[in-house]
Amino acid sequence: MILLALKRQKVALIGDGAVGSSYAFAMMQQGLAEDFVIVDVIKERTVGDALDLEDAQVFTSPKTVYSGDYEDCKDADLAVITAGAPQKPGETRLDLVNKNLKIMQAIIKPLVASGFKGIIVVAANPVDILTYAAQKFSGFPKNRVFGSGTSLDTSRLRVALGKKLNLSSQSVDAYILGEHGDSEFAAYSAARIGGQPFLDVAKKAGLSDDDLDTIEDEVRHKAYEIINRKGATFYGVATCLMRISRAILRDENAILPVGAPMDGEYGLTDVYIGSPAVINGSGIAQVIEVPLNDKEKAQMTASAETLQKTTKDGMA
Ligand code: 2OP
Repeated sequence: MILLALKRQKVALIGDGAVGSSYAFAMMQQGLAEDFVIVDVIKERTVGDALDLEDAQVFTSPKTVYSGDYEDCKDADLAVITAGAPQKPGETRLDLVNKNLKIMQAIIKPLVASGFKGIIVVAANPVDILTYAAQKFSGFPKNRVFGSGTSLDTSRLRVALGKKLNLSSQSVDAYILGEHGDSEFAAYSAARIGGQPFLDVAKKAGLSDDDLDTIEDEVRHKAYEIINRKGATFYGVATCLMRISRAILRDENAILPVGAPMDGEYGLTDVYIGSPAVINGSGIAQVIEVPLNDKEKAQMTASAETLQKTTKDGMA
């Protein structure tokens, strides 16, 4: 009898700040990836984190977790990039573009030179622009490079609507689309609750258009609320990254909101922007175009224009 050994899966985390180390912890809790390498310029931190994380595995999942370098990424199935200057109180995500484009270039070069042939998921900000740059710098096919996009914003919307309707956030089928940033918007017209149009459910629950605008605005500004209080956001995005990683590593064909490359969807091209997509072991298998009303279509176009303008200025 021949026993086929299952292929060990390997994830490379590049950037071991608060988001990166929270992601590593979430991955360990979920038992995802047998090998986990952490790369960062601050070596003491990656060594310390690897030692700390291995102490958790007795109660979580057996995993080889170690501090490494770009050469250690060559046989990774997935590289998750969280490295970059974080937003300070008062800064927008777009304010980070110049600093973080340079950092992205400095990461992608040695990552590709290592022989890495896996999927790249970007989570540093401004995420849509850095994802676009990562794809250009790497020369990888677009389906193998994508961003966390509006995954976190969509979680925030589902949490907010779940609270208002007294429902589990997991039962709210609604998306934030557009830039992961100030020009994002809630695609309320396409949202569903238990198969019913969300707008009907909201009306029955006594939510006015103004209430819905307020919720959208609170979602859009939630990161600022958190940053003003604790200096950074990390658990939410780390969990979104874990969910995206699981869809890739388990070849799930799951529809998740991400930062996806546009190829005519929403009338857009040459931009990465928040939209649901089918995620599996090959990366993005298909972008899902959410049907939008006229107001939302205009918001999507305006959001893409903001991203394209900032990308053009940043990469000039
Ligand atoms: C967030 O939305 C700052 O992009 C980060 O939490």
